[in-house]
Amino acid sequence: MGFPLPSIFEFVLLSWGLASCRGSGGSFDANYDITWGSNNVVSSNRGREVQLSMDQSSGSGFGSKLSYGSGFFHLRIKLPDKDSAGVVTAFYLTSHSGRHDELDFEFLGNREGKPYTLQTNVFSNGQGNREQRLRLWFDPTADFHTYKILWNQHQIVFYVDNIPIRVFKNNTSIGVNYPTQPLQIEVSLWDGDSWATDGGQTKTDWSHAPFKAYFQGFNIDGCPADTQNHSNTEQCYSSSDYWWNRNKFWKLDSNQQKAYRDVRNKM
Ligand SMILES: *[C@@H]1O[C@H](CO)[C@@H](O)[C@H](O)[C@H]1NC(C)=O
Ligand SMILES: *[C@@H]1O[C@H](CO)[C@@H](O)[C@H](O)[C@H]1NC(C)=O
Ligand SMILES: *[C@@H]1O[C@H](CO)[C@@H](O)[C@H](O)[C@H]1NC(C)=O
Repeated sequence: MGFPLPSIFEFVLLSWGLASCRGSGGSFDANYDITWGSNNVVSSNRGREVQLSMDQSSGSGFGSKLSYGSGFFHLRIKLPDKDSAGVVTAFYLTSHSGRHDELDFEFLGNREGKPYTLQTNVFSNGQGNREQRLRLWFDPTADFHTYKILWNQHQIVFYVDNIPIRVFKNNTSIGVNYPTQPLQIEVSLWDGDSWATDGGQTKTDWSHAPFKAYFQGFNIDGCPADTQNHSNTEQCYSSSDYWWNRNKFWKLDSNQQKAYRDVRNKM
């Protein structure tokens, strides 16, 4: 078979390929380190996909090398399938000082055929207890979906495939603490069967181990912040240096508000 002339379709594919290379801005190794359970971490496709697994001996995890002072963080995730009761897949941002700041996505596994619950939480200045739970409207084990956290001076927004599912406003003007400290990205797969599924009554069934979660999208849209020296924090709020600080990201636009209301009405 000969090679036909490149069609417009192939041209589009080629440009798309180049664009996605440009956009990928870093493999797993460039931006992340394995943090625990290294025997249960497998990287493939030249660092473009990582698999975490959990067996009875250990879960596993990875974290960003740097901490950030603002950003629009994302990962593509495919969750452990079949019977995942008790298994927690977490993607979160956390500070490392005493006054804890943290932004969490936690995916709570379930018995086969029962839906996953997505839990989000926000800690600011040590105060948490802001858990919210949502049933996903698709099967998160069947394919990769994009989970994102926007964090700028004005708002924190959790997104599932571009749909805002939670907004945490900067309400410091009315006395609500807002995360201020450099945050590091952490990802982990661990046994949460003391609480995660049916309030801890449904336990991990180890006969289904190892449990596996898959991750892609390791470029990081964040403003690197020095954890020792907070004097560059202000710079992380600059809208000329960092696009996620621009007006467009200060609040949801009308389409996003509508999508947000629709999701919230189903919660
Ligand atoms: C929260 O908003 C106030 C203005 O109301 C601003 O001065 C402050 O820097 C913001 N806080 C953070 C952590 O972005
Ligand atoms: C911020 O204030 C608005 C208006 O009072 C309120 O609706 C919202 O729930 C508050 N958000 C937070 C995170 O405190
Ligand atoms: C802290 O960061 C600022 C701005 O980046 C820099 O000018 C200053 O020298 C740093 N201070 C220390 C103690 O490293």
